Order: sequence, then structure tokens, then C-alpha cells
Amino acid sequence: MKHSLIISDSEGIIRAAEIIRNGGLVVFPTETVYGLGADGLNGGAVRKIFEAKGRPADNPLIEHLSSIEQAETVAKNIPDLFYRLAEKFWPGPLTIVLEKQSVIPDEVTAGLSTVGLRIPDHPLTRELINRVGRPVAAPSANRSGRPSPTSFEMAKQEMDGRVDAIIDGGVCRSGLESTVISVHSDELHILRPGFITAEMLKDVSGLPVTIATKEQTGKVRSPGMKHPHYQPNAKVYYTDEIDPFRLSNIFAGKKLGLILFNDSAKPVEMPAGAEVINVLDWEDYAFKFYRALVEMDDRGVDVIIVQSVARHGLGTALMNRIERAGERLER
Ligand code: TXA
Ligand code: MG
Repeated sequence: MKHSLIISDSEGIIRAAEIIRNGGLVVFPTETVYGLGADGLNGGAVRKIFEAKGRPADNPLIEHLSSIEQAETVAKNIPDLFYRLAEKFWPGPLTIVLEKQSVIPDEVTAGLSTVGLRIPDHPLTRELINRVGRPVAAPSANRSGRPSPTSFEMAKQEMDGRVDAIIDGGVCRSGLESTVISVHSDELHILRPGFITAEMLKDVSGLPVTIATKEQTGKVRSPGMKHPHYQPNAKVYYTDEIDPFRLSNIFAGKKLGLILFNDSAKPVEMPAGAEVINVLDWEDYAFKFYRALVEMDDRGVDVIIVQSVARHGLGTALMNRIERAGERLER
């Protein structure tokens, strides 16, 4: 296997931009998760992303921009509210879905008439997109179905040899993918919850904010929400009640990994041989979650138990990822 070129400075970014402009693939860091990028106006290059990930072709990609004005080159009928939201939250973990112009290849949008846009917040990646001079289409840089990479090591483990270059930007600051929204004149829809919460969007827009769920709409609005995602090798269960005695009984003979708040059970009470990763609060949970899943695989556990959280604020995004990584442990 030919290893991917590793890039870690501005000089390397010049090379990475050339690779993208020539139709190649570059993995880049963002504040949310690592992305797997290609020239967002080149359908052939974008198809390579789907091959490298093993991603279903019906799942659209986000176009990563270098400026708010660049949205006007790829989207149409842009509402005023778009500008208010972009000015407030960009660069940052918010993806805004707008009507697309025909320059956007169908490969990016999986044939939809809309396109998701965001400006990511990482200095090397902003420099990269600037130098490319076109939008950069990118999904998360995991192989399809796996936890999204939130560190250089994870990104390399997922994509080395499958892409032309990988940019080392260390650990991702927030650790969960961007909030995906669609904007209407009288309301905002959250298609995928993320770091920018319903509460924050309501404050800025003054509009009602709905969170699209399967139940609410009868169909999945963000195509990616229906695919399995975030799954490590070990089987994942979530529960709000961490009772070491009960867990030892249910999973007798299995090596357990527990991801839980540090005040939920005393170390002395843990099931024998269990691996434990503690989180301090919701932000720390978001920051560590995908890394912790992969770390548990590395530690050789059979089953991962993760602690659930309440569904408000950042808890909505956390529960969305937790539910898709695993299954609820029935009482
Ligand atoms: O933080 C992020 O959003 C990361 C970084 C790399 O920017 N990207 C990311 O991409 O998570 P991906 O492809 O793993 O997830 C994109 C999500 C999917 O759920 C997809 O269905 C949805 O955004 N999406 C993209 N374009 C859409 C559109 N036009 N309409 C509805 N949903 C869309
Ligand atoms: Mg993804």
C-alpha cells in the first residue's frame, strides 16, 4: 500500500491545494471532525470520496467555503436569514442547506436540488480552501459506518493509503459534526443536531426551531440520518442507569468498557476487569466520544456501555450520536 502524504504546515498546504485542484483527495482537520475533501465543482473527484469511504451514493456532501460571499456562487434564492446566521456562527459548526445552482455536481448533492454549506474553523483548513479557490466537498473522514475521526491518529488509521494527503491538525476542538439546518421564511429545521443548539438558533433567528426526527416527518430529511454510523467493532449499549452489579450480571464473561460521567459510580464498584473512560460534562463528552469508542476497541473490550444524557441543548446532539452508535439497554 502506498502511504498518504502527511502535511503539517503552511508549505504543505500549498501542495494539498494543488492535489485538490488536480482532482485528488485530501483529509483535513476542522473544529468538529476530520473531513475527506475533493474539488467541490468536479464530479469525478467527488466520486472518489464515495469510493474511499465506501459511502452510499444517496448521502449528500457538505461544501466547505472560504467566505460567506462564496455561497452566492453555488446557491440561489438565498434568504436574508442565511446572512444573519452565517455572520453569527461562521466559521463554525453550522451547515446551512440552500437551493443549489447548477455548478454543483449531482455527485455532491446525491441528486437533491439543495446543497449544504459551511465555513469550518481551523486555520490550516481555511488556508487550504482559500488556496483551492473553489468550494471543497467533504464528508467526515471515516470509512462508512464507523466513528468520525476527531484526531490526526484516527484520521490516519481510517484513510492512510486511500487518499493522496492527510493534514495533521491535532485533536478536533468540539468533537461532534456540525448542526445541519434548512432555513425557511417562518421557521428553521434542524436536520442533524450538533454543537450549535436549537436554543442558540432560536436566539439569533427569533423563529421557531424544529428538530426533524423520523417520527416527526414520516421520512428522514437529512439522508445521512438513516444510515448506520459511529459504530466501533465492540457492541455498544446506552443506559441512564449505571449499576455495576446489574451490568456484571447481564454481561457475565464479557470484557466491558464503560464511558460515563466521573461521579456516576465509584471505581471500587466497577465490574471486574472493566475499562473505564470518564467524562466531566456534556462538552467533554462531545469532545471525547468518538475517540473513546475507538480507544475501547484498542483496549479489546467486547461490549461498550455508554451513559445517556438529557435531550436539551448539546444533549440533543449527544443522544443523536449515542443512539446511532448503539442500542438502548432495556431495564
Ligand atoms: O462537521 C461536519 O459537518 C463534518 C465536517 C468535515 O465538516 N462533515 C460531516 O459530513 O459530518 P457528513 O457527510 O459526514 O455528514 C453530512 C450530513 C449528512 O447527514 C447529510 O445527509 C447531510 O449532512 N446533508 C448534506 N447535504 C444535505 C442536503 N442538501 N440536504 C439535507 N441534508 C444534507
Ligand atoms: Mg459522517
